[in-house]
Amino acid sequence: MDTNLPIGLNAEDSAALSNELNALLCDLHVFYQNVRGFHWNVQGQNFFELHLKFEEFYTDLQVKIDEVAERILTLGGKPLHAMQDYVAGATIPAVKDVTDGVEAVRHCAAAYGVLLVRERGILALSDKANDEGTNALMSDYIREQEKTSWMLRAYLA
Ligand SMILES: [Fe+2]
Repeated sequence: MDTNLPIGLNAEDSAALSNELNALLCDLHVFYQNVRGFHWNVQGQNFFELHLKFEEFYTDLQVKIDEVAERILTLGGKPLHAMQDYVAGATIPAVKDVTDGVEAVRHCAAAYGVLLVRERGILALSDKANDEGTNALMSDYIREQEKTSWMLRAYLA
């Protein structure tokens, strides 16, 4: 039996990576929808600044959602696509009716922390599997989100 995918990666390793990428996809989706809510509902003196910043965040998350889903397909897996699967599989909680800017930014800082833990776990697996494609994707996400995390902490200081 051929244990390799057409792209030359080990099928068992790739299936394990697809599962972890699906878990990341769940968190990306729940976080995306939370940030949409912050963009719409935030109030107060920092409205204009935060309204724009949340749009920047959700636009970036939307790109990553598609990249992660298509990486899963590239690895021979199936990306989850039903809302109930995202909510069930996410570590990030779905939040409602947040109007306070600081509370919304705190949520974002915590959510990026969750994403970073997931991505480092995936990176460790992809490294062992010699999966440079997933490795590179996770490296980019980690570098970007670590910087975003610093900026959010600076805002909250
Ligand atoms: Fe908008």
